[in-house]
Amino acid sequence: MTLATKTAPQEQLEQFLVKSGAQSFLDPAFAGFMDERDPLKQLRDEFVIPTRGQMAPGVDRPDESSIYFCGNSLGLLPKAVSRIVQEELQQWGEGGVNSHFSHRFGRPWVRIEETVQHQSAKLVGARPEEVAIMNTLTSNLHTLLAAFYTPSKASGGRHKILMEAKAFPSDHYAIESQIRWHGLDPKDSLICQAPREGEYLLRTEDILETIEKHGHEIAVVCFSGVQFYTGQYFEIEKITKAAQAKGCIVGWDLAHAAGNLPVQLHDWNVDFACWCSYKYLNSGPGGIAGIFVHERHANNFERNRLAGWWGHDKVTRFDMVNEFKPMSGAAGFQHSNPSVLTSAALLGSLTVFEQTSIQDLRSKSLLLTGYLHHLLTNEFSNQVLEIITPSDPEQRGCQLSLVFKQGKMIEIFEGLAKRAIIGDERKPDVIRFAPTPLYNRFEDVLQFVLELKKLVAEIYN
Ligand SMILES: Cc1ncc(COP(=O)(O)O)c(C=O)c1O
Repeated sequence: MTLATKTAPQEQLEQFLVKSGAQSFLDPAFAGFMDERDPLKQLRDEFVIPTRGQMAPGVDRPDESSIYFCGNSLGLLPKAVSRIVQEELQQWGEGGVNSHFSHRFGRPWVRIEETVQHQSAKLVGARPEEVAIMNTLTSNLHTLLAAFYTPSKASGGRHKILMEAKAFPSDHYAIESQIRWHGLDPKDSLICQAPREGEYLLRTEDILETIEKHGHEIAVVCFSGVQFYTGQYFEIEKITKAAQAKGCIVGWDLAHAAGNLPVQLHDWNVDFACWCSYKYLNSGPGGIAGIFVHERHANNFERNRLAGWWGHDKVTRFDMVNEFKPMSGAAGFQHSNPSVLTSAALLGSLTVFEQTSIQDLRSKSLLLTGYLHHLLTNEFSNQVLEIITPSDPEQRGCQLSLVFKQGKMIEIFEGLAKRAIIGDERKPDVIRFAPTPLYNRFEDVLQFVLELKKLVAEIYN
């Protein structure tokens, strides 16, 4: 990674400042100029943006848009989702069970998962056969670990899992329970990689050192692609390569990466991955999730797996035989017939992604989050807030995580919510803000910073 790449978004913003003729980055003319020239600006119209009055009853200017920086938690509703889900309800009403095979909108339910497979695969840099859209995230993590975590402590073999010390708790619970499921004790079989004393971020060099030292006893390395708390984007390719060189299986939880930044799961040779679709993929609360299984595992039927009829060979699925014959690829890991309504919701959202590319979204995102980073670092003292997300744009996605000092986080969070500015708090002292390139504007960033300045002046006076 060169220095020039690292500073590119900031350099670009400075060039745009000159072009805009604005006095400074705080000048509304600058944000206006950036929104006007934004090649993706029309995508905002594809979403339902909650109003200020809806997000903060009693607020002034209730009909204007709220500032929604919470796409890292739950993305906003794409208009196409309402349409396609409505079509499925109509189909159900008119066709009942026949809709599995005959569908007036061309989406027979018996193949509904195929409607969301290709575009999902594109978003995570996978081949279509490497992806299955199914279940929900934690269930999928269990499904994948059931197949890929096969500890062999008794024979002195590999039995450990390496993960982040502060992973999202559901991942931690899932992994500890998998270890116990095999009759092992997390005290012996779990390695949690913690940041150095006084630091928030994990250093790649430290992860690599752990792999070098313990790799021979590690069965699976499983990190998140983008860390939920800090927003750190891990070096997936480098970590995967180092761990595989030591003979480990490597899996990634892409909950905060899918739809946020480009990843190349196939080319990076990742063994398995999983993600949810309700964050940057905007498929709605509890939306259907995804798995990736690298093609080199596609036909390895020796590896035991949790089986269900939707993973069984499509041709004979309805023959109702007891002998399980898994499909090749990720599809062979499916269990149940997929939820049609959540698949339809995901399909609606993916039609918006189809109008652009993850690379173009990333280009805008680098500028949008770069702008937010610049304003926050220039307008606030470090006695008030600290950005714990990496300052290097290559090591983060949309999200910036801010620690508010002196125990004031909740006051700030509530103050912002009253002004219809939506981030999300994570205890003890962080608020996460994620301007997302599909529907956020430079104006949102500027208005947010101006409002935060007022609030900080009140709260920290
Ligand atoms: C990194 C990560 N893992 C797991 C989960 C749990 O997801 P689910 O409730 O969909 O299983 C989340 C939810 O936000 C998450 O961010």
